[in-house]
Amino acid sequence: AKLPKKFEKNRFNENICERNAPLQHHNQVLVEPLLFLNEYWTVMGDERRALAYSKAAATIKCLPFTVTTLTELDDLKGLGSGHCLKVIQETLERGHCQEVIVKRDSMKFQSLKILSSVYGIGPSLALKLHSNHGVSSVQDILKLWNQLALADERIKVGVTYYADLSTPVSCTLAKKIKGIVEYELSIIKDDFRIEIAGGFRRGKKNGHDVDILITYTTDGEEKGILSSLMKHLNHKGYILHWRLEKSSFDEEAVFTRSPDQISVMDHFEKSFCVFKCPLQGNEIPETERTIRIDVNEPFPSQEQRNWRAIRVDLIMVPKSQWAYALLGWTGSKLFMRMLRHYSNAHLQKTLNSHGLWDKRENKLIPAESEEDVFKNLGLSYKDPSHRNF
Ligand code: GTP
Ligand code: MN
Ligand code: MN
Repeated sequence: AKLPKKFEKNRFNENICERNAPLQHHNQVLVEPLLFLNEYWTVMGDERRALAYSKAAATIKCLPFTVTTLTELDDLKGLGSGHCLKVIQETLERGHCQEVIVKRDSMKFQSLKILSSVYGIGPSLALKLHSNHGVSSVQDILKLWNQLALADERIKVGVTYYADLSTPVSCTLAKKIKGIVEYELSIIKDDFRIEIAGGFRRGKKNGHDVDILITYTTDGEEKGILSSLMKHLNHKGYILHWRLEKSSFDEEAVFTRSPDQISVMDHFEKSFCVFKCPLQGNEIPETERTIRIDVNEPFPSQEQRNWRAIRVDLIMVPKSQWAYALLGWTGSKLFMRMLRHYSNAHLQKTLNSHGLWDKRENKLIPAESEEDVFKNLGLSYKDPSHRNF
């Protein structure tokens, strides 16, 4: 008979990038309060504290057994300050954590959570709206719309389609969006590759948006395609809103100017869109859910609605950067952060969505596939489904 493999604490501690973070793990009860506190501090605008809880949650997710006593976590790296351990201990002993219950009921948190979930509103604007204007809900934004004079076009879109955009996107709808993009691309030019990245690629059943990467067989061929694609999609009536970002890639700037800065933003040409996704009968949302604001554009009456608004990111990638871009846009955010930190600190190399830069040799290390990237990092290949840190 096969004996259960012994948990090797030292190996677990050695290199956190070698850990596996599956969606289904052994410690849901413990991870929940930690993820809540990550959300709480993100919403409250304290990223540093939020990150500590996110890392602790990720460590617990990777454990190959169910934790029953605190001693099982002795000498385990990645659980952060004593406070995370306190939350874990209380949850183990009482089944819940009092701090979480109190924070969850906080009016300020609840308001900021709603406000910062509106497309175009981040934690700092949410705080400003709440503190300076007493705004606590999407309805409040509507009431004070003229007075607030929010200049960012995205907020109008975010409020108009709030109900749709705050409803999780299913895998089926993500594939439908991919199909639409694929078809329109095929009209423009052959020989492209298109892939859904983000949470869906990591096996999640739902997402807040659809992240789609596009490339062509040789470098340079991708130029101008995204603008054409947007024209086609608009012409067919698939687009409610979009913002095109030009490529700002420059090898020198991206890799050598601030090599120690752990930067998340990349320089690909991309389009941040809100799609008008056609729906089949059973996918049509209930009526009253879409909030309307007084905009000039005509808005179809609820009865006619056989579509829903979906956030879609389209990213155009030069072929030679595909492997790194796919890895970067598959995430998770925390996993990419860990990889960037690891390659910087242990390999003297800068990793981002464009490539891997050897700081000692001053050159880029090419990769054809994600497997190559892991090899270049001296790590074993990790399936996307195990990157849910
Ligand atoms: P949900 O969409 O909420 O289901 O989760 P997700 O993991 O797909 O998150 P998100 O769509 O925000 O991002 C997907 C991945 O792309 C993440 O791992 C991010 O690290 C990465 N990402 C998102 N925005 C950017 C960006 O502007 N630049 C780069 N380089 N990466 C990004
Ligand atoms: Mn996503
Ligand atoms: Mn996204």
